[in-house]
Amino acid sequence: MDKIVINGGKKLEGKVRISGAKNSALPLMAVSLLAPGEYRLREVPLLKDIDTAATLLSQLGVRLERKNHDIIMDSDGLNCFEAPYNLVKTMRASVLVLGPLLARLGKVKVSLPGGCAIGVRPINLHLQGLEALGAKITLQHGYIEAEAKKLKGAKINFDISTVTGTENLLMAASLAEGITILKNAAKEPEVVELANVLNKMGARIRGAGTNTVKIEGVKELKPTDHTIMPDRIEAGTFMIAAAITHGDIMITNCRPVHLDSLITTLKKTGVDIIPENTGIRVKGSKKIKSVNIKTSPYPGFPTDMQAQIMTLMTVADKESLITETVFENRFMHISELRRMGANIRVNGHKALVTGVPWLEGAPLMATDLRASASLILAGLKAEGSTEVSRVYHLDRGYENIENKLSNLGAEIKRITEYT
Ligand code: EPZ
Repeated sequence: MDKIVINGGKKLEGKVRISGAKNSALPLMAVSLLAPGEYRLREVPLLKDIDTAATLLSQLGVRLERKNHDIIMDSDGLNCFEAPYNLVKTMRASVLVLGPLLARLGKVKVSLPGGCAIGVRPINLHLQGLEALGAKITLQHGYIEAEAKKLKGAKINFDISTVTGTENLLMAASLAEGITILKNAAKEPEVVELANVLNKMGARIRGAGTNTVKIEGVKELKPTDHTIMPDRIEAGTFMIAAAITHGDIMITNCRPVHLDSLITTLKKTGVDIIPENTGIRVKGSKKIKSVNIKTSPYPGFPTDMQAQIMTLMTVADKESLITETVFENRFMHISELRRMGANIRVNGHKALVTGVPWLEGAPLMATDLRASASLILAGLKAEGSTEVSRVYHLDRGYENIENKLSNLGAEIKRITEYT
């Protein structure tokens, strides 16, 4: 397993280009199941999760070709409707084949995704939505089996805003007979991008990005090509890297509009954020001011940035209260940050962070994707050497992060351990 070693205290300066969005690429790869023919996706990040999705699609019979950051897919040869446990357990986003396979083949069998480090993460809302469209769903031996001769439009009200739940229903309803209305739909930019791509393919979706989305089913869809939008969470992570090292970073291939809530919060901590025509410039301030943060679905403060902003708050001037409202166990990074000298008290979903003057480098263990990013940020700040092990978590969502950081002046390297 690999580990990353950082010698902290360096100011990060220079330019970094953000990769394509993982959480956009994953549903857009599943889209290839909806209609035969050749799709081309550009700016697909080189990530473990993308490889897992490609393996799953090829096992379903999709022809895939990766040309650097492009992926060409053709589902003409789609000949299987089962997503096996060994793949689903490594990547929950495999459930995104549910909607398209049901719409295209009329049947699908997907292993129930287990929980993960950050929470139980059920998919009951996905299944309720598909049942509303007429699917007959049975659960047995750890698998979901769904069948539907023809999906029929319906009114669906999500109790909780669910990103992949909304994405599954957008894909399924696009080929259903009649009108589907999704109430309390997720508004994340990745959901809007999926709706835009489906419309490019001939779907009739209106209202994506608002609470209520209307989908008028069509008989068939056509393949398309698309350039994936930049990863807003990677961009946000680099903004915090600039803030915590009091650096000055130019972030290119980034859409500030997708980061409103984070930018507003960072400005309150004293960070200078200057939009320029080639991207966004982030200048850390001498003193980091404490702010309170509460995560919520888009356009609120993203849960995927909670661990990273908490690291920044560990070296802020006063106290900050951080409340995680989306997932029930997304504080796994706290025990590792404490080992570096951070002062954090946890009470349920709330963490009270009292700023300390410095962090000490230490051997750390990553537990989940965004927690591992928060430990890297802490290592950039800490005095001395920090080793983050189990960085396979990091590789799921950040392309080439150690090279991007070392190009900005970080003293960072990856060590492959053969233990
Ligand atoms: C997506 O996960 C993202 N993953 C996550 O990013 C992100 O943290 C999350 O949305 C929230 O923004 C992808 O897009 C591939 P949800 P998803 O369904 O869709 C509950 C990362 O770091 N819920 O919006 O699985 C659920 O338990 C990953 O890149 C139900 O109860 O999240 C959670 O508490 C981590 N029943 C809340 O809703 C359901 O049927 C939001 O989950 C579905 C969800």
